[in-house]
Amino acid sequence: MNSDDKRRILVTSALPNANGSIHLGHLLEHIQTDIWVRFQRLSGHQCIYVCADDTHGTAIMLKADQQGITPETLIANIKTEHEADFRDFLISHDNYYSTHTEENREFSEQIYRRCRDAGMIEIRSVEQLYDPEKNMFLADRFIIGTCPKCKAENQYGDNCEACGATYAATDLIAPRSAVSGAVPVTRKSDHHFFKLSSYQDFLKDWTRSGTLQEQVANKLSEWLDTGLQDWDISRDAPYFGFEIPDAPGKYFYVWLDAPIGYMASFKNYCDNSDELVFEDFWRKDSANEVHHFIGKDIINFHALFWPAMLNCADYRTPTAIHTHGFITVNGLKMSKSRGTFINARTYLDHLNPEYLRYYFAAKLSSSIDDIDFNLDDFVLRVNSDLVGKVVNIASRCAGFINKKFDGVLSGQVGATNILDDMLKAGDTIAASYERCDFGKAVREIMALADQANRYIDAHKPWVLAKQDGKEDQVQQVCSDGLNMFRLLITYLKPIVPQIAADAESFLNVVPLTWDGRQQLLQGHKINQFKPLITRVEADKMTAIVAASKEQPIAADESAEDEASDIGPEIDFDDFAKVDLRIARIEKAEHVEGADRLLRLTLNIGSETRIVLAGIKSAYQPEDLEGKLTVMVANLAPRKMKFGLSEGMVLAAGPGGKDLFLLEPHEGAEPGMKVS
Ligand code: 2FM
Ligand code: ZN
Repeated sequence: MNSDDKRRILVTSALPNANGSIHLGHLLEHIQTDIWVRFQRLSGHQCIYVCADDTHGTAIMLKADQQGITPETLIANIKTEHEADFRDFLISHDNYYSTHTEENREFSEQIYRRCRDAGMIEIRSVEQLYDPEKNMFLADRFIIGTCPKCKAENQYGDNCEACGATYAATDLIAPRSAVSGAVPVTRKSDHHFFKLSSYQDFLKDWTRSGTLQEQVANKLSEWLDTGLQDWDISRDAPYFGFEIPDAPGKYFYVWLDAPIGYMASFKNYCDNSDELVFEDFWRKDSANEVHHFIGKDIINFHALFWPAMLNCADYRTPTAIHTHGFITVNGLKMSKSRGTFINARTYLDHLNPEYLRYYFAAKLSSSIDDIDFNLDDFVLRVNSDLVGKVVNIASRCAGFINKKFDGVLSGQVGATNILDDMLKAGDTIAASYERCDFGKAVREIMALADQANRYIDAHKPWVLAKQDGKEDQVQQVCSDGLNMFRLLITYLKPIVPQIAADAESFLNVVPLTWDGRQQLLQGHKINQFKPLITRVEADKMTAIVAASKEQPIAADESAEDEASDIGPEIDFDDFAKVDLRIARIEKAEHVEGADRLLRLTLNIGSETRIVLAGIKSAYQPEDLEGKLTVMVANLAPRKMKFGLSEGMVLAAGPGGKDLFLLEPHEGAEPGMKVS
């Protein structure tokens, strides 16, 4: 590559929230980004990859409060954990920073001031729900109430999951605070709005300028065609974030300073580098590239608010936004009760990170469709492709070269047709990487691996080795095989960098590069072969799922997922053993320290039972008192973390707020048998 072809690229992944662990969803995105970044570097481009923790907002403030620590301590602890997880998945961030930093404060204030001075900030009075116990305004997701349209209970303050209606939190019937349970009051407060509506035309052009996948641009057209609303960028104290410079007691909404965190992380990196200059990448006319990798749930923040704000503040807009779909496991949403909500650390405790990197690469494309992590397919694919096809080539050839030829490869290149094809294929594989169509790249590479294996099978060095006078042929076939292996490893290097590094040591070569692949090995001495990767054992996957299963505190707490399949058949006698009774809920109370439990005092006619039920996400205690429900009355009492539970109430639904306690018709009496 000559110096004119060298691109200078800044790349980001979405900033993980600083209130939870890294899980498969984050890994999908960071692995996708990292593969693209490593491909660019391997191709000779300068590619800087930055990220950070997203640290601000009400959720983090409340979580720290719950844990009795400061938000600063909470985010520092989480950052250490996140960094270790990403490092161990071989994610090659150049800088992993935080949004709670001076650089981010300065950029946020600067961008805000520039927008304000351009006349793009407007202050409007907004009526909002306020928690009189906690003395705070309540964001929509901290308010629960009855849907004004379909009357479904326990809906969040912005939209109804039962009927899909969207509304203002103030429209909810019987709203209450999810923070304290208090009945909220309405209060007025001044809010700062960014006049996004003024950017309608700019964004119509920008979203069609080749920066987005077509599927994404089409989705945005739906919003753009119905007209953009101005964007509320302020929140009232108490709030963990940056105070707005000219508005004491008002804070920037977390989504204002989160993407600015990309700039802050890069600035911090530049300040510690002798060579990089922040403005070279961010000034309006910069020819360098900025690429964001995100999930499809945060398109509006990145492809509407962010470019509009950057444009207003006189910064360049992103070169491209690469959007991926959601991850499912075995076709379903990740689930704690099924053990498929897998954290990075749980995976690493059992398996090599490169298996997952390879599997995700094989599944990723440039579409925003969801990506399924099928656990059986994962085991099969890694074993048959990485172990069975690629590493196998080296193990088949290396032994002969080491034993019979003192580790020295043939002085000539044979199999020139195949090797030429493999070299040429590098161009189409590179194009697939560039488009983020990693699945296609993997299919192409595996087709080449099949070709290489067929070549070795056809020439059978293990047979030739037993025949007199065939020494040269053995050396030639195995040398060709190892040259093929070297090309395959070059092509796979962005995906499996550690296997590639180990292969480089075995081949005794300098780090492989895309262009360097043209130099085939001749008369070259290799090292002893050591297995580069072992097979995935299926029981490791089972162990990961078991370790990811949330220990149910109560059986009825585990009903948090989508309806699962019908369970195994039982006979009538089994069923008859279960004594179901009508119970009246005499009392319902919060359980101190328990996130999901309510303590129910149940009258079943002849006696009273205390049951700890995992239904807090869906019910306020005061709404339950006096209601009838159904309980398993002959379940042996269970000692749980928060006390003894003497039975179980029956509830239906996927969980969260979609959990419905069975409520028999009036007329049923406490103690009546249910059959
Ligand atoms: O959705 C999220 O998890 C956000 N923390 C992503 C922020 S990306 C960027 F804008 F900072
Ligand atoms: Zn509804």
